[in-house]
Amino acid sequence: MRRLTVLASLGALASAAELTQITDFGPNPTNASFYLYVPDSFKANSPLLVYPHWCHGTAQDAFGSKQWRSIADEFGFPVIYPSSPWTVDHCWDVSSYDTLHHNEGGDSLSIASMVRWTLENYPIDSDRVFVSGTSSGAMMTNVMIGAYPELFAAGSAYAGVPFGCYAGDGYAVWNADCAEGRTDKTGEQWDALVLEAFPAYTGPRPKMQVFHGSVDNVVNVTNYYNEIKLWTTVLKTGSTPSSVAENDPVSGWTKSVYGEQDLFESFLADGVDHNIPDQIGEVIRFFDLDCTGETCFSRKSLPS
Ligand SMILES: *[C@@H]1O[C@H](CO)[C@@H](O)[C@H](O)[C@H]1NC(C)=O
Ligand SMILES: *[C@@H]1O[C@H](CO)[C@@H](O)[C@H](O)[C@H]1NC(C)=O
Repeated sequence: MRRLTVLASLGALASAAELTQITDFGPNPTNASFYLYVPDSFKANSPLLVYPHWCHGTAQDAFGSKQWRSIADEFGFPVIYPSSPWTVDHCWDVSSYDTLHHNEGGDSLSIASMVRWTLENYPIDSDRVFVSGTSSGAMMTNVMIGAYPELFAAGSAYAGVPFGCYAGDGYAVWNADCAEGRTDKTGEQWDALVLEAFPAYTGPRPKMQVFHGSVDNVVNVTNYYNEIKLWTTVLKTGSTPSSVAENDPVSGWTKSVYGEQDLFESFLADGVDHNIPDQIGEVIRFFDLDCTGETCFSRKSLPS
């Protein structure tokens, strides 16, 4: 009976906090909307997660249908749920010159402003800011890690494309060449795009984790192999995995880890299409979100 009472009160606590819209959070050139979830269990010095939604999704959809709310409740960290301003299909702007360049504009600057506002207004560990998403959210994850390396410790992208692959004429344009796998570059060519996004930056590069289905018919798996070329070059891990594990974390998936410090991880899901299921435990582990104290993974752990 006593255990039941404790569980009931925890349940009440966990459901009290709500998704809150923040306005006036700094430069927001594309008028993206900023929704913030701060769980009642919020603890000072917690990490921060940014979770941009997929095309045709919203902040509310991502908040309501993904597991991050309950994970945030459990470990006490806030989650930023940005909402796309592009009403046609609610994808993210991963195409414009502005979004692909540090502090130039586009949706990436709007999301960077959300992160900066949250760090100014909550006692969060600024060395433990993470970004993850699926599909358009994964494309945006690649863009944020490439254009705002000073803000993030790591990114995790499900069914995305490499930074700069969607580059096109305008904001939030669909790039069929990229999506359908006709854009193929060397690691050095991808790396050059990332360096050019923020030429003055000399600090550590966030580590990165990517997941992709082998039969993805919306965002072709060519993009997975190009993300590998991109991030193994940026992170200087070398192109040969230090370990490869089959049926990890689930049957049919192959996990590859790169570099001495495991700075890059890739997961190929055999037979899986664009509707790739979350492996949230892998993301929590990679970001060290269940860690408290001094020894948690953070930007301070990254090679400089
Ligand atoms: C954003 O909103 C402002 C104020 O309503 C407007 O002037 C501006 O044109 C909008 N920007 C975009 C990209 O829609
Ligand atoms: C991905 O692109 C390759 C090369 O164009 C093509 O052979 C393959 O069928 C595509 N995959 C899917 C699932 O559409």
